[in-house]
Amino acid sequence: MTLWAWGYNGVVSGSTAKAGAGKHQGTPGGGSPPGPFSAIAIDGPGAAGKTTVGRALAVHLGYRFLDTGLMYRAVTWLALQQGVSLEDTEALAALARSLDFLVTTPTEAEEEVVLVEGRPVLRDWLRSLEVEERVSEVSALAGVREALVAKQRALAQEGRVVMVGRDIGTNVLPDAPLKVYLDASPEERARRRYLERRGRGEEADPGEARRELERRDRLDKGRQVAPLRIAEDAKVVLTDGLSVEEVTELLLKLAWAHQADS
Ligand code: DC
Repeated sequence: MTLWAWGYNGVVSGSTAKAGAGKHQGTPGGGSPPGPFSAIAIDGPGAAGKTTVGRALAVHLGYRFLDTGLMYRAVTWLALQQGVSLEDTEALAALARSLDFLVTTPTEAEEEVVLVEGRPVLRDWLRSLEVEERVSEVSALAGVREALVAKQRALAQEGRVVMVGRDIGTNVLPDAPLKVYLDASPEERARRRYLERRGRGEEADPGEARRELERRDRLDKGRQVAPLRIAEDAKVVLTDGLSVEEVTELLLKLAWAHQADS
């Protein structure tokens, strides 16, 4: 199957992908993996496949992986748990500043473990409907963003990280050597979100999944602080009709190509 990656101003590469590629030991044409101080920034709207692909890429490269959306979710979750009003912007910023958030490095056998305030937290808690409904509001607050972005930058300083979010290439790591903007059609994203919910055993409705994604897109793209947008030097990759393995393979090729150019 032919894969296409679109640059901001047009098509930049096409290639034939092999699904189910194994862990990479080198570039497709030989050579050493990208690094050691590189960061790969992946941004895009909800349900575009950022987390699954970002994690797979990190595992292939032996990089660390940070899904920054989970940090915004952790603050929202803690606020709901502790009865902090979501109107109280100062208390939310304080919660973000004191947030103790750690993730282990994922492997082929095991997803990363998320620790909030020193305790392992199930991703399903952070992805619950309650958190889902409020997280865009919380992530729009300047004080919350300032605190979490500082933590994200500190983590990236150690290098060799794949970081996923909405503002990584534009704001958190504007100098990241490789920036990717992953997107998919609204229909495809709604289908994925619906299947994800069903997979967790939750009640789900395709129309509702699409409306919720549209609402989140409006909030994420329309907010004043660090709205979701495409970095000028990002490679835009549309993932409709592609498997996780195919998209991961494509991003690996972009990483190798970048390494060869620099
Ligand atoms: O990717 P996600 O759905 O887990 O993100 C949860 C929310 O956090 C979503 O509303 C977008 C926001 N977010 C953000 O504003 N900046 C990031 N770097 C990551 C997520």
